[in-house]
Amino acid sequence: MKAVVYDGPRNVNVKDVPDARIERPTDALVKITTTNICGSDLHMYEGRTDFEPGRIFGHENLGEVVAVGDAVDKVRVGDMVVLPFNISCGFCENCERGLTAFCLTTNPDPRMAGAAYGFADMGPYNGGQAELLRVPYADFNCLVLPEDARDKERQRDYVMLADIFPTGWHATRLACLNPGETVVIYGSGPVGLMACHSAMIQGASKVWQVDCHPDRLALAERAGAIPINFEQTNPIDKIMEDTGGKGADRGCECVGYQATDAQGSEHPNITLNNLVNSVKFAGTIGVVGVYVRQDPKHPDPLYKHHDGEVAFDFGEFWIRGQTMGTGQCNVKNYNRQLLALIVAGKARPSFVVSHELSLEQAPTGYEHFDKREQGWTKVVMHPDGGR
Ligand SMILES: NC(=O)c1ccc[n+]([C@@H]2O[C@H](COP(=O)([O-])OP(=O)(O)OC[C@H]3O[C@@H](n4cnc5c(N)ncnc54)[C@H](O)[C@@H]3O)[C@@H](O)[C@H]2O)c1
Ligand SMILES: [Zn+2]
Ligand SMILES: [Zn+2]
Repeated sequence: MKAVVYDGPRNVNVKDVPDARIERPTDALVKITTTNICGSDLHMYEGRTDFEPGRIFGHENLGEVVAVGDAVDKVRVGDMVVLPFNISCGFCENCERGLTAFCLTTNPDPRMAGAAYGFADMGPYNGGQAELLRVPYADFNCLVLPEDARDKERQRDYVMLADIFPTGWHATRLACLNPGETVVIYGSGPVGLMACHSAMIQGASKVWQVDCHPDRLALAERAGAIPINFEQTNPIDKIMEDTGGKGADRGCECVGYQATDAQGSEHPNITLNNLVNSVKFAGTIGVVGVYVRQDPKHPDPLYKHHDGEVAFDFGEFWIRGQTMGTGQCNVKNYNRQLLALIVAGKARPSFVVSHELSLEQAPTGYEHFDKREQGWTKVVMHPDGGR
């Protein structure tokens, strides 16, 4: 089969690799029809994680089941399915409680909980930027889609259930957003835009969205947010001004450890401290942007030499009595309900899609999306060819 292989920093290639196959009786084999490039892939693509060269990328996957193992009961050959980026067992202590991002059985590394397709430190599993994908514990992990999922146009919405729509939603839930409240979202990439969409659906009274890319901020504004370009405006000042000095009720971090300042230099603490200072006393903050344990290439000396430590404004955080939630999204906790919102026409996550490419065009897609070039908001690829 053809697959997108990581060959080292900023070097991905479409190669012929051995076909994915059923390895355990609980597996399904899925022919991938739509798969996305994610901001999480970019941390790995840039060589800023310990993702091993030779591995296949792709954790946002949708396709048709072409084979199932003997122990698969619910999922049938021919079903259209979307896969949570998390690979989880369904029977461990964490999965039982809905914490599928922290599954205790699917990651062989004892220092880790939780697994994912084609992801640094998240187990040995191959990604779905390929013609075929092996899906472990298929009955638990597959979300079977309605018949109209055979239509490529519909797949643009449904594929967002693999990661970014649930993750944006998760950011607002970690932030404990209530109807009528205000929320500031740092980052207007695909995840931040999904957090905005989710906040709007949940009845936020006001959403501010912070980024430096005008095209991404324009999408946020169209989704209902007040855009703040941090290259022109200090986001803390703007939010204080708009709230009479009180701050936003809730805050979401959708950027991660490669967050930059107005000059483009990376500071892993910048969005965290901006959140502390722009969210109200006793407010709540949800952090879904990724922070890794180690990044020897980080320009920030603390992060680089002290295994991912950040200069966090803990005094201010404590004085304000704020609460913070973090971590990978438990996709399965939300994806069925979010599917219902799409089907009912109340959510349309595909508004972030800017490019639809073939799998062969993956290297170009990675290059442009990595540069956050104007107009490259979200790249969707079709390994089965065509649109
Ligand atoms: N927790 C999860 O389960 C989960 C799932 C998916 C993605 N992620 C992570 O979420 C983050 C965002 O993903 P994405 O696909 O939207 O990526 P992205 O890189 O396309 O978007 C990040 C955006 O943040 C902006 N940004 C940089 N510095 C900023 C600052 N100081 N203030 C405000 N905005 C700033 C960038 O300009 C960019 O538009 C990544 O770290 C990704 O790995 C986490
Ligand atoms: Zn993703
Ligand atoms: Zn589990």
